[in-house]
Amino acid sequence: MAGSPNASNMVVGLDIGTSKVVAIVGQATDDGGIEIAGIGSHPSRGMKRGVVINIESTVQSIQRAVEEAELMAGCDIHSVYVGVAGSHISSMNSDGVVAIKEREVTPSDIERVIDSARARAISEGQRVLHVLPQEFSIDAQGGIREPLGMSGVRLEAQVHLVTAAANAVQNIEKCVRRCGLEVDAIILEQLASSMAVLTEDERELGVCMVDIGGGTTDMAIFTEGAIRHTAVIPIAGDQVTNDIAMALRTPTQHAEEIKVKYACALTHLAASDEMIKVPSVGDRPARDLSRQALAEVVEPRYEELFTLVRDELRRSGYEDMVAAGIVLTGGTSRMEGVSELAEEIFHMPVRIACPQNVRGLADVVRNPIYATGVGLLHYALQETRHGQGLKSHGGVVAVHKGRNELARRDIKEDHSTLARFKGWFKGNF
Ligand SMILES: Nc1ncnc2c1ncn2[C@@H]1O[C@H](COP(=O)(O)OP(=O)(O)OP(=O)(O)O)[C@@H](O)[C@H]1O
Ligand SMILES: [Mg+2]
Repeated sequence: MAGSPNASNMVVGLDIGTSKVVAIVGQATDDGGIEIAGIGSHPSRGMKRGVVINIESTVQSIQRAVEEAELMAGCDIHSVYVGVAGSHISSMNSDGVVAIKEREVTPSDIERVIDSARARAISEGQRVLHVLPQEFSIDAQGGIREPLGMSGVRLEAQVHLVTAAANAVQNIEKCVRRCGLEVDAIILEQLASSMAVLTEDERELGVCMVDIGGGTTDMAIFTEGAIRHTAVIPIAGDQVTNDIAMALRTPTQHAEEIKVKYACALTHLAASDEMIKVPSVGDRPARDLSRQALAEVVEPRYEELFTLVRDELRRSGYEDMVAAGIVLTGGTSRMEGVSELAEEIFHMPVRIACPQNVRGLADVVRNPIYATGVGLLHYALQETRHGQGLKSHGGVVAVHKGRNELARRDIKEDHSTLARFKGWFKGNF
């Protein structure tokens, strides 16, 4: 598998989730969408709350998923764009300022100002994942999205900085490399998901995207087209399953099955006369339970989760600026009653979103569980579409809003020095 790049213009997204590992192979279509050529999915056993807890199991899951995707796409996979999540991720808004050298903003000025915004103290053991520009100011003029070529003497940049625990990232890289694969880049999972499920209008109007997976709930807030806030909440579908297992005294795998088949997140939507069978532990006989009683077990956990999301949204200071409301994705958003319950808690419009702009296997991937996997492809294709074949090495991608240019660069492991920008290219964040 290792060695050369992937076949022709194929790119591969690898979502190492807590519930499943997914590899998705795709290529760009002329209209800016993605043609999916293959997908492989395998249950994930070696991850907990977004971090690797068992390298061997994770390697096996990746191998299986990648082999399946290779088989379906009919091509060899050599390198992958990988998602990362977990409580070890932190993010902050930062700014930087430089003098414009030639009185007209050049790519080098933009590079310097982003570097200076990036220079904010990063805690020990953290590694920069993304430096995502929000807006620029030139002299007294703020709100500039595309400063290149503009006149002035002083350039200022506001950026969203995302860092991750270096060890956690290294463990993910280790697992991927053990499978004989190169890491093209490591991408924050909610950034990837948001690229798959959000519309341009939502990002402009202001939106809070919430990817509720098995192990973590990942949030990303956008206003005026730029990412403003990211957060990870360590509660998701696994806890819901666990609650069912505990309350109904049934083994976890039965609890999971019951949850997916019958659970409802809003008690009053579930009928009290609709009965289900709950297998017991040991050789005790199965019991009858109403769907409403099951919903009574599930609802408090979803309510807790949405309350935590709402608190985080408030803390971020953007609560009043997300006019497009809440967009939910990830497997745990699929339960009946989720959007109704979320609307009650957020007092905002809520929609459940699936990956957009996909062709080929669209029926399969238009599912909230593939938001991150498909989003990784969007990210990768944006890079390759505009990167003129540039290759990154798990480095930083600076997403430049406005006319939407992406700048990327390599970053040394000790994040002491930055390599120069390798190039500029447009994207459509
Ligand atoms: N129809 C459904 N109703 C309720 N829950 C569901 C449904 N389908 C899947 N889930 C839950 O979604 C979760 C898996 O979601 P997803 O595949 O997005 O997670 P993941 O990406 O593997 O995990 P993470 O992002 O936390 O690392 C599991 O907890 C699963 O039980
Ligand atoms: Mg996920």
